[in-house]
Amino acid sequence: MTIHIGAKQGEIAETVLMPGDPYRAKWAAENFLENATLVNNVRGMLGYTGTWKGNRVTIQGSGMGMPSLSIYANELIRDFGAKTLIRIGSCGAMQESVKIRDVILAMTSTTLSTPSRGILKELNFAPCADWGLLQAAAQAAATKGTPIHVGGIYSSDVFYDERPDLNEQMVRHGILGVEMEAAELYILAARHNCRALAVLTVSDHLLTGEALPSSERESSFGDMVEIALHSAFS
Ligand code: ADE
Repeated sequence: MTIHIGAKQGEIAETVLMPGDPYRAKWAAENFLENATLVNNVRGMLGYTGTWKGNRVTIQGSGMGMPSLSIYANELIRDFGAKTLIRIGSCGAMQESVKIRDVILAMTSTTLSTPSRGILKELNFAPCADWGLLQAAAQAAATKGTPIHVGGIYSSDVFYDERPDLNEQMVRHGILGVEMEAAELYILAARHNCRALAVLTVSDHLLTGEALPSSERESSFGDMVEIALHSAFS
């Protein structure tokens, strides 16, 4: 047990999928894992361990934003021995070519800052995905016929961003979408010799103002979960 994860030693798998929303962890565990058991409910940040095609997997909520994700990822890696961490979450599209429901595989993540800023200091470290996971995820999406975009995303500290100039620069520099967790996950994975990837479903569009209706969220998010699972075990 750790401060934020109530699982016993051995109850967390080496492969962990991390949605921001704890209820999405529950939904994904119930719909994609066999024999899923609740292993964490501290602060309602649900975590489940089960199997997928015979492989042990944990699906643990990360909460919203990099400080929250950092708590869970640190404890998963340092105290429970997690080795492969895949964020499954939503993002806002920042390019016209990216459509609602599309999946983005985040090759890199740009930030203004992350919780690791304190130790990286003036170093502009470039958080990037694990190549093996990224390649396998792209292959899994191609096999499923899911439209994907592979490239850079922006991990923001603010959802209600009041700096349109910053978003303009992201768009101009080809950033595909914005979310709030991936960069710190990539940095922690690099620091602890783990593999990480963010597989994101586009839930809203910053240029068109469109948003995925809540009734359609589950079916669209299912593709992302399957891509993440195939990527982890291929
Ligand atoms: N996650 C989903 N949509 C987002 C947005 N527009 N900004 C930040 N995070 C998001």
